[in-house]
Amino acid sequence: MSDIITLQNVSVHFPVWGFLPFLKKGEIQAVSDVSLRIGRGEIFGIVGESGCGKTTLANTMVGFVKPTAGKVLFEGVDLSSLPRQEFKKVRRRMQMIFQDPFSSLNPRFNVYQIVSEPMLIRGEDDEESMKARVVELLEMVGLSSGDLYRYPSDFSGGQRQRIGIARAISLNPSFLVCDEPVSALDVSIHAQILNLLLELQEKLNLTYVFISHNLADVKKLCDRLAVMYLGKVMEAGNSDKIFAKPLHPYTQALMAAVLNIDFSGKREIAVLPGDTPSPIDPPPGCRFWQRCPKAMRGCKDVPPEYVEVEEDHVVACHLVNGFPKTELPDGYDQPLVRSEKTVKVRR
Ligand SMILES: Nc1ncnc2c1ncn2[C@@H]1O[C@H](COP(=O)(O)OP(=O)(O)OP(=O)(O)O)[C@@H](O)[C@H]1O
Ligand SMILES: [Mg+2]
Repeated sequence: MSDIITLQNVSVHFPVWGFLPFLKKGEIQAVSDVSLRIGRGEIFGIVGESGCGKTTLANTMVGFVKPTAGKVLFEGVDLSSLPRQEFKKVRRRMQMIFQDPFSSLNPRFNVYQIVSEPMLIRGEDDEESMKARVVELLEMVGLSSGDLYRYPSDFSGGQRQRIGIARAISLNPSFLVCDEPVSALDVSIHAQILNLLLELQEKLNLTYVFISHNLADVKKLCDRLAVMYLGKVMEAGNSDKIFAKPLHPYTQALMAAVLNIDFSGKREIAVLPGDTPSPIDPPPGCRFWQRCPKAMRGCKDVPPEYVEVEEDHVVACHLVNGFPKTELPDGYDQPLVRSEKTVKVRR
């Protein structure tokens, strides 16, 4: 399968400004050295705790955010190498569906204005054909021509999300980022919108990036996925393989906490101590060492490399891959003794 998106060592850093003008205090390392590929026609999941960089990474894929380092290739073409007009053309083939269907639609626009806006921006001006296209799109997402002149406030959350989806597909995109598209919706609507996304994917031959905190949805929908922590990918690849055998302690903890599955073979779940550290000053070694229930002394200082442990299953963890044969700190393979204790919960 050919790749639609390829990320090569992509980093995104945001400056943190001090009180004095032009005085940079530091950098938020929102995304650090991420390399991934997304195949055409697949659903690619991005999971991880709040603030780990999922949205920033997705925004980089669609060109909303420029990478500080590295390259984003769309169908093999480096986005940063494209002249403005070419970039705009490519950009139209990549769209986003947002989390909050209440704030993502302009309340002063009616449905026709909202859904036809991207066509207007592209330069279309034939009112009749735009109207016909908007009706076609509304029918595709489960709404009807009777909704054309209604306003967002007349619709429920699920219906608003349908309007957002109609707008996102109005220019026939090939790549769609769905950033927590159902997390603001209640359970019954949640399933309907996911089914609609699946239906459209098949019908329109779309590729999705699906960002979600709901691992059950990710398991059901995604062909491949990336698990992120503090701006880094910890584990990535084929979704079935990762769910069947999560190797990184972070993936294991995330899955055990959410799906209530125990991967350790023992009847206990490690609850991760502490909060995610600040992305302004991430730890030099493995980014997860402070909260890792299995960390060794070397994890603190030596950054883990990515190793493909089986076909399409990559993991960055010293416990899985072993330490690299470089200069290692004393006692690097000894268990790390911390003041904080890992809390164990018995089932
Ligand atoms: N435009 C920006 N300027 C400065 N910092 C930013 C900007 N956008 C994101 N960040 C920071 O980058 C980090 C990653 O944010 P991001 O929104 O990508 O996380 P996320 O994984 O999508 O979180 P959530 O699950 O809460 O949506 C956070 O620390 C955030 O505060
Ligand atoms: Mg986000």
